[in-house]
Amino acid sequence: MTDKNTSHIDPFVIELVDKLYQIYPTVNHKLIVNISTLSYNLEEVHYIAKNIYYVVKNFPRFLSAITANMDNYLARMPLVENLFEEHGRMNLDHVHLRSYINFLNQIGIPTHDLDSFEPCAGVIAYVRSVLDLCLHYNYLEGLAALGVIEDIVHQVSPIIGQTTKKHISNINRVSHFSEHEVLDEQHSKEIYELLKYNNEQEKQLIARGLTLGAYYHSKLYTDIVDALLYETGPKTLSTVDADQFINEFIGEIKEEKVSEKQYVYPLAQGKAAVNRLALLNKLYNNKSIATIQQYIDKTTKNILEIGCGTGVLAAQLASVVDDSIQVLATDVSEAQIEVARNAHTKNRNLSFIVCDCNQVGQLQEKFDIIYMRWVIIYQKNISEIIHQLYRILKPGGYLIIEDNNPMESGCYSYEQKDIIDHWNQFFKFALVKTGQVINIEKTIIDTYQELCMQDITKDINQSSLVTEEEKAVFYLGIEESKPSIIKAGIREQHVDTFIAELKTICKSKYPVDFVKNFQLIARK
Ligand SMILES: C[S@@+](CC[C@H](N)C(=O)[O-])C[C@H]1O[C@@H](n2cnc3c(N)ncnc32)[C@H](O)[C@@H]1O
Repeated sequence: MTDKNTSHIDPFVIELVDKLYQIYPTVNHKLIVNISTLSYNLEEVHYIAKNIYYVVKNFPRFLSAITANMDNYLARMPLVENLFEEHGRMNLDHVHLRSYINFLNQIGIPTHDLDSFEPCAGVIAYVRSVLDLCLHYNYLEGLAALGVIEDIVHQVSPIIGQTTKKHISNINRVSHFSEHEVLDEQHSKEIYELLKYNNEQEKQLIARGLTLGAYYHSKLYTDIVDALLYETGPKTLSTVDADQFINEFIGEIKEEKVSEKQYVYPLAQGKAAVNRLALLNKLYNNKSIATIQQYIDKTTKNILEIGCGTGVLAAQLASVVDDSIQVLATDVSEAQIEVARNAHTKNRNLSFIVCDCNQVGQLQEKFDIIYMRWVIIYQKNISEIIHQLYRILKPGGYLIIEDNNPMESGCYSYEQKDIIDHWNQFFKFALVKTGQVINIEKTIIDTYQELCMQDITKDINQSSLVTEEEKAVFYLGIEESKPSIIKAGIREQHVDTFIAELKTICKSKYPVDFVKNFQLIARK
């Protein structure tokens, strides 16, 4: 509850209202925050304002309903006065609905637009629910709900009023909101003061009414935000800043992680992965192979690749190293290994097997070099996997882990910074959602140190995307993992908007920096 003289309000009411504001965000609700930070375009502002018009129009009916439901004339008095004020103290120019219409006109909504406007279902449901509560249940419930609603409106009104004043040049006085700021505080206080109970049952009724008031109003805001997407179409994501993007796009999944059993590798495997992996290999292999070659010497007999995908790098490596060096490439996916085996038949020093890196310690052979790229990022037990790799590394052998650090993905564009920011955020939070380790780079170094590995070295492998075809890597992975993303609770419509946004990058005339891989090398 905001600062006010609360001496005549029951402490139980004050305490519960404060708690409810923690549970049901209203003043800090996304709708209000977005309005005050000018995150909506004019069409969206108009849509919100017209929906609220329906609420303003019906508000006196809530007061009339609760008044009808109260048999104590003394308790009724502040409500009658409240209703009187809503009607401008019988001065037509001061009727609240009129001052609100005046405000709508000033922000560009003509009065005749209001007659034909159909509010969203959430707004209709709100009005009917509050009306029903005020009229058909014990009056203490409706009264308590109205107290909370007026309290919220008086806190929100100055925010709307000030934002409007600041950003719409021809408005210098937003009387509707300044009046509400003052009057609603007074009204909510008067209503709160009426919330007295004689027994436990009445106390419970008040508690339920306060809870319903906070719930209904918070739900009203949420429903308007949701309806905005359908009615005015999804916002172009690039007009949304990255934090807001996360809230709107994947906010609902921030906390929730899938259990180990549910976890599935999100990207395509087998034939469906061929194009994306071919592109990525073309972009990154030169540097990856050059790094591996640095650790090859006359004593090198074999190299193991973990999570080889469609085997492009393994085949290239097998071609450039001495024939006597055996390259064994593994992947958890049978489909990937099948594609790899069929595609790379020429190298006699190359073989492929299906193997889960979580069980790699069971391999009987030991290796001079073990290499993996874009695999560890998808694993949960990074440290445990490195322990297993250490076991199958020969003494003096090298472990090279190449991957992307989601904390610092390196993606950058001169032209479409917003889109890239969304991509970076999306990538990071998608990993959180699937319960993966975000700080992988540090985890790998810590594990190398724990195993007392020597000569820990870091290098960088980053590519710039220049052609339209190269830039497609931004969306190919998202397209492939669309079913997993939708399963994770993100609406298909949002995913499509995101993909459409990523596709616009392809048309950019500037090169775009793609993921900055770290290469962490250590010797056993
Ligand atoms: C993004 S792809 C990278 C493929 C390849 N390393 C490359 O750089 O082109 C990730 C690969 O890791 C494989 N993978 C995922 N989980 C794995 C696991 N537990 N064990 C082995 N491979 C795994 C996937 O099947 C996929 O082929």
